[in-house]
Amino acid sequence: MKIGIVCSRVRVEEKLLIAALEERHADCDRIDPRELCIDLASDQLSGYGAAASYDAAASYDAAIVRCLSHTRAYYITRWLESVGVLAISPHETVRACGDKLLTSAALQEAGVPNPRTKLALTPEAALEAIEEMGYPVVLKPLLGSWGRLLARVNDRDAAEALLEHKKTLGGYQHSVVYIQEYIEKPQRDIRSFAVGDETICAIYRRSEHWITNTARGGEITNCPVTPEIDALSRAAAKCVGGGFVAIDILEAPGGRLLVSEANHTPEFRDCIDPTGVDIPARVVDYVLKIVESGER
Ligand SMILES: Nc1ncnc2c1ncn2[C@@H]1O[C@H](COP(=O)(O)OP(=O)(O)O)[C@@H](O)[C@H]1O
Ligand SMILES: [Mg+2]
Repeated sequence: MKIGIVCSRVRVEEKLLIAALEERHADCDRIDPRELCIDLASDQLSGYGAAASYDAAASYDAAIVRCLSHTRAYYITRWLESVGVLAISPHETVRACGDKLLTSAALQEAGVPNPRTKLALTPEAALEAIEEMGYPVVLKPLLGSWGRLLARVNDRDAAEALLEHKKTLGGYQHSVVYIQEYIEKPQRDIRSFAVGDETICAIYRRSEHWITNTARGGEITNCPVTPEIDALSRAAAKCVGGGFVAIDILEAPGGRLLVSEANHTPEFRDCIDPTGVDIPARVVDYVLKIVESGER
């Protein structure tokens, strides 16, 4: 069994995944996407530096893709699949999770409860859409993570200013505006981890700020996986393409749970102790199981 682990920086997460692979006596090669060049007419992993001596892609049974860059993950998973290498997470998952509109569309189509969301194609249409939705609303960049560039818009003055700033200062992805109803959640959200068709654990991320990402200081505690969280998390993971996915869940007033987004390369180092679940071991066991069973 030979597994590639595609990552530029070997963070704690990747070290833990490599250790879990070694413990199970799986051969493991690190593949650095920064050195790779994909030749569409070839199934060779090639490039410069260490990449010059990589084995043929076909010699890998699977590749765990842990790129920090969404764009690199997007293209490398596409190519791995075209040369017959199982990618975890699959290209479909990277595609659907990497763009918040595609995530929302997948959730909506699958009937997975999610906050009301609109995409406006011009700033003028965005202002109309925001006013119709009613304040506060949340604006999010389509691509992004760690709570970056999220904005809670409380009134028309703020909406006008933000839309003008986006139009004048923003890059091309800011020319369309992702607008979501603001969910009056408690000072926390829930993040569940789905591996294949299982919810392996969940955490609360608690913060004084409305953005509860741990990258922004959210504190992690264990969240018991209730049947509702389990069902929601599995349904969300499935509709975005499956693999190893973290699902962000908001608790709406009255206790209704809504999925706000899904992540294809989740960080998990600080979630192992609070949940008591060996997340890297579960991911590796899942990868080895699908390789062995030949299921895709
Ligand atoms: N619609 C919303 N209503 C209330 N809080 C939200 C909403 N959307 C996101 N948040 C808060 O902001 C955080 C980051 O939002 P998210 O959509 O997950 O973006 P990112 O990809 O940057 O993590 C969430 O974890 C949650 O705490
Ligand atoms: Mg998030």
